[in-house]
Amino acid sequence: MTTDALRGETLASIDAAQTPEALEAVRVAALGKSGSISQLMKGLGGLAPDERLKVAPVYQALREEVSAALEAKKTELGKAALSARLASERQDLSLPSSPLLSGTVHPISQVMDELSEIFADLGFAVAEGPEIESDWHNFTALNIPPEHPARAMHDTFYATPAEGGERMVLRTHTSPVQIRTMMAGKPPFRIIAPGRVYRSDSDATHTPMFHQVEGLVIDRGIHLGHLKWTLETFVKAFFEVDDVTLRLRPSFFPFTEPSVEVDVGCSWEGGTLKVGGTSSWLEILGSGMVHPKVIANCGLDPNEWQGFAFGCGIDRLAMLKYGMTDLRAFFDADLRWLKHFGFASLDVPTLSAGVGA
Ligand code: PHE
Repeated sequence: MTTDALRGETLASIDAAQTPEALEAVRVAALGKSGSISQLMKGLGGLAPDERLKVAPVYQALREEVSAALEAKKTELGKAALSARLASERQDLSLPSSPLLSGTVHPISQVMDELSEIFADLGFAVAEGPEIESDWHNFTALNIPPEHPARAMHDTFYATPAEGGERMVLRTHTSPVQIRTMMAGKPPFRIIAPGRVYRSDSDATHTPMFHQVEGLVIDRGIHLGHLKWTLETFVKAFFEVDDVTLRLRPSFFPFTEPSVEVDVGCSWEGGTLKVGGTSSWLEILGSGMVHPKVIANCGLDPNEWQGFAFGCGIDRLAMLKYGMTDLRAFFDADLRWLKHFGFASLDVPTLSAGVGA
């Protein structure tokens, strides 16, 4: 190929290169170790002196011209890449400067964080279970026989059973997490299990989905006194008042024996119910000593292991602590309500700084 043809061809490929990679390939083909122009320069050594004097300046000029063209194209491609990036990475300057701070934490989430913080301090771990639960975990293992009224259609959301398969339910309480915890590990256990539960019920004080926190302690030699102390300690820390009176009433649950319902002493202040005093009582939880049959259903020996359990309505705790009056507002997703009752997203409840936010 003549020098002129080589020049024309190389400059044309530089011009045609669309990407830095394509341009680099052209550079290597011309100026790389075995590139066409480098080969020409190498050949100079074998030429007769006067021939060499004649062609060397031509080759050198070609090499310089090609280098300059490569450099110019490289700059051009860089500029094009930058403008493409500037065009694609537009900033919306009308966005709020701190979007994180404009959202709020829902009071239910806040209360769950507070509960976890308080019980973590008492040595409890947080456990979880599925919301779509097997009939066995939700009822049978908890010593709720098939004819028990808790199973009646008006309470429980049942899924259509799979063919020949088990019937699933939306869990009606967090108690199945007791079963899952006892079956999955080795005692002793100290857990709480906050989460959503479902019952087919809806009015000013009931929503079909609501929240509970389950508590479970299984160890040797556990008795009702441990339950009472734990609940008192929890209620005092949660409401941040020392003069809390708990009223324990005998009750019945198939999965605890004996069973105790717990009311917290309250008083009315300017139209809202406040914790403290004993002029009024509000039921906050059900509890008791875990029934030996339940312990045995989980494969543990009830003669060796005992414990207590409680199940507490989180929504009600939140209403009492933060002064909301209508349960349904929790689930309306009304931004004005959320702004008013929500919590700063970066404020994490801690025992030292106060779990009350
Ligand atoms: N699971 C019961 C309910 O939903 C509450 C409970 C939990 C009672 C644990 C005793 C022990 O009403």
